[in-house]
Amino acid sequence: MKPIVYITRKLPDEAVAGLRESYEVRMWEEEETPVPREVLLEEVKEASAIWAMLTDSIDREVLDNAPNLKIVSNLAVGHNNIDLDAARERGICVTNTPDALTEATADLTFALLMATARRLSEASRALRAGEWKAWTPLGFTGHDVYGATIGIIGMGRIGEAVARRAKGFDMDVLYHNRTRRRFEDFVYSDLDELLSRSDFVVLLTPYTDQTAGMIGERELGLMKNTASLINVARGGIVDEKALEAALKNGDIWAAGLDVFEEEPVPTDHPLLSLPNVTVTPHIGSASVQARHAMMQLNAEAIHACLTGNDIKNRVC
Ligand code: GLV
Ligand code: GLV
Repeated sequence: MKPIVYITRKLPDEAVAGLRESYEVRMWEEEETPVPREVLLEEVKEASAIWAMLTDSIDREVLDNAPNLKIVSNLAVGHNNIDLDAARERGICVTNTPDALTEATADLTFALLMATARRLSEASRALRAGEWKAWTPLGFTGHDVYGATIGIIGMGRIGEAVARRAKGFDMDVLYHNRTRRRFEDFVYSDLDELLSRSDFVVLLTPYTDQTAGMIGERELGLMKNTASLINVARGGIVDEKALEAALKNGDIWAAGLDVFEEEPVPTDHPLLSLPNVTVTPHIGSASVQARHAMMQLNAEAIHACLTGNDIKNRVC
């Protein structure tokens, strides 16, 4: 019997064709909805590999249900949806998709940064609502991006790609990271100084026990009242209640959010009612090119693992 690969979401045929040659591929056949928990728990029973989405919680219970499992390959660079300790204990390999999504995610980060600076979603909404009565001297004025200071929290591959873009806009680049890195043009800064000096604070850290809630009332209070906060990492890094208050009180200028504590974010979430919030539905890596490259990395990792070869992009 061929080893079973379980894919937790409907993926395009071309992404899966290679695996079908050597494995029995089963998948949750819906694209729009995540696999229900009880289906996942059942399907993994015979699986040698799980190709997972960031919407699936691959926890101890799932792993305990999967005695044949050798690998979980996540269609994401973040892997906070997977219990790595539990995987390690069971000798299960976990892989992610770095590099393939770096530039796409940096593009989206910059898009949100510019959208908040120049009030794009607010202005666009006003136009569609018939509120554009005349060109006005100070109507919808925002803030300059060119020449401003950007502060990047989490200077990994994506952070660096954002920093390179920022240099094209002649921005001063500050960064904060667990480990200090050597750059000619990007300046290491402690967190408080970065928050107080930046015109754009960009979050690109992984979601861990250390980064959960790291941007709260105190941190938002250090930011300039003309500054924007951009979160393209994970929602839980920001205290959303504190953010809402800071935006309402004018303590900060705007926020650009691609991620939320709860996803999909409920449409009655208070942050969505604020004009100075630009939101996107967790689409950081959502370019056709990046998503296909990510899928290829997943398929390669699964195949390498199941054939006993060297596995790239292991996180454990
Ligand atoms: C997306 O959020 C990812 O982690 O790839
Ligand atoms: C604006 O449209 C300008 O011409 O300055």
